[in-house]
Amino acid sequence: MQIIKSPRSIQHLCDSLRRKGKTIGLVPTMGALHEGHLSLIKKSAKDNDITVVSIFVNPTQFGPHDDFQKYPRAFKSDCHLAKDAGADIIFHPTVADIYPAGFQTYMTPGPIAERLEGQARPGHLRGVATICVKLFNIIKPHRAYFGQKDAQQLAVIKKVAADLNLDLKIVGCPIIRNKNGVALSSRHAYLSPDDLQKAAVIGETLIRAKELIRCGQKDIGIIRSRMLESIEAQSGLEVEYISFNRWDDLEEVTIISDKVLISLVVRIGKVRLLDNMIIAG
Ligand code: PAJ
Repeated sequence: MQIIKSPRSIQHLCDSLRRKGKTIGLVPTMGALHEGHLSLIKKSAKDNDITVVSIFVNPTQFGPHDDFQKYPRAFKSDCHLAKDAGADIIFHPTVADIYPAGFQTYMTPGPIAERLEGQARPGHLRGVATICVKLFNIIKPHRAYFGQKDAQQLAVIKKVAADLNLDLKIVGCPIIRNKNGVALSSRHAYLSPDDLQKAAVIGETLIRAKELIRCGQKDIGIIRSRMLESIEAQSGLEVEYISFNRWDDLEEVTIISDKVLISLVVRIGKVRLLDNMIIAG
């Protein structure tokens, strides 16, 4: 497995691999890898000749009060984990390589990026779209892999790729959970074992909402208040939002029909935990 820091070097390498007829899969990450990331790497390794994993904590997607400085970084162990999962190349640029002095061009997605996380974290998805398009231009992958864990991010990147005729396939991958059903996240590093135990109620609540819908409940007001009740019964958990949106343009829905994304953010102290489920109406 090669570790490459320079955008120009990896661009040359990937161009020559492409010319030799190799298919390239890209898994963009911010590191602190866990089984969720590894599932994406394994999928890419299965689908492509070459898998590139980018590890870059992207400053433009963090707000001024976000955790950019203290975001968990574990480069050495990430390399071992990525290699074992099937990565061929790690791309690990510096911030100055990606955003040199004078950088001023951003990718601004439309209304799809303004709701949900776009409301809670203004500018976040603009930063995500910018780094992803830069990575697509540097690596020129045939396929790029994203987790449904960040469902809006996946929808935004799919929209950007479609709107701008990007010549690659965006592959969405299922959410990986721990044994208690908590969607894995690098930010779990900030939680105590006790808090992580409490977080199990989030996944359980989504499963119960799915059950309610399967039994015929279509009224979002009722489903939302049941969800709120069960999460806030757990001390220390505070619901930031529970939202029902049409998958995959993310228009808000008032009644369950077609494919609906139920997404929620729950705070435990300062830590925001995101989870979601896509439900066929
Ligand atoms: P990061 O949070 O490191 O996640 C990298 C990829 O792993 C994303 O596509 C994310 O959805 C996926 N992922 C995270 N947890 C997962 C889980 N439990 N199950 C399945 N997939 C999971 O998302 C980002 O980084 C950044 O915004 C990035 C796209 C790299 C741009 O900087």
